Amino acid sequence: MSSFSLKAIIIAITSAIILVLYPNILNYNFNLLNNFLVAKDTDELVVGNSVAKNCLEMDEILLTPDELARYDGSSDSRGLYLAFLGIVYDVSSGSQHYKPGGSYAFFAGKDATRAYITGDFSQAGLSDDLTSGVDVQSFDGIRTWIDLYEKDYRRVGRLVGRYYDQFGCPTDARQWVSQQIHRSDQLKEQEQDLLLVFPLCNSEWSGQTNSGRVWCSRQSGGYDRQWIGVPRQLFMTDKKQYRCACVRDSGPPTEPAIVYEEEEDSSSSVVANNDHNQNVGDLNNPLLKSYDGCDPKSSECKISD
Ligand code: HEM
Repeated sequence: MSSFSLKAIIIAITSAIILVLYPNILNYNFNLLNNFLVAKDTDELVVGNSVAKNCLEMDEILLTPDELARYDGSSDSRGLYLAFLGIVYDVSSGSQHYKPGGSYAFFAGKDATRAYITGDFSQAGLSDDLTSGVDVQSFDGIRTWIDLYEKDYRRVGRLVGRYYDQFGCPTDARQWVSQQIHRSDQLKEQEQDLLLVFPLCNSEWSGQTNSGRVWCSRQSGGYDRQWIGVPRQLFMTDKKQYRCACVRDSGPPTEPAIVYEEEEDSSSSVVANNDHNQNVGDLNNPLLKSYDGCDPKSSECKISD
């Protein structure tokens, strides 16, 4: 064998080994060229003559949506990837879910973050857009999915588009999602506070008579307490609807009081209370209204349609 063919064989074998060990290496170079970027070191990219910050972690790559689409697990695809909130994961170890024919094959090769929240798996629903039609409480679920993908799958890199720019840096849309997640945390905390001050009532309803009753007890709402309370309708500012609450009707009011916050549309908040000297518990809270025809001191109220 000539020394030339020996060298060619050694080069071919070495390239094959590199490709097996680093399957993304072609993609990496492709991406950099695609974006007219040349890697200078791990933190900086040279764009034309100027140096820009690169937000990627050491072993992360950038993919465009078209490139990601080539990782949908089909027979001629490059692998099995998906993106969640702009982060690309290699989900080949969960191929039973994501490969063609799998229950969640529609997530492969794209970022369909919206569908994880809405459960709308139609073509239109498989989008990464969370800016409309998703209420703030739903952002709570995002963390669960991030945790799942971070724990069970290898992070490949970032998807250039809605959530990361061409340097892999978070966009305004990504910051906005973080704010929404934070806001949903706050609402959850407020909901917990609200359940202690205004526990849920017991209730029963008859479809035959279209009537029922709500009543309070020391354990109603699953909150074991010293007082029973009287049923009132509590306006939930985030959901813009009423629910039955058992309200303490003696002693000083809860401090600080939970009230509606005008400027922060759709949220309840806490403010100082002025009712200290009144022995009315939380009955004067502005979020409450009585049940029609019910004795205001009764621990039970009849309700009808
Ligand atoms: C918004 C609605 C839903 C979404 C976005 C969703 C999404 C997913 C995803 C992404 C996986 C794969 C997780 C992984 O990679 O390990 C999965 C697994 C699974 N899902 Fe769902 N799912 C939804 C609703 C449901 C419902 C309603 C059911 C049952 C009636 C269900 C049953 C399952 C089962 C059995 C698995 C497999 C779990 C395992 O093998 O570990 N899913 N789901």
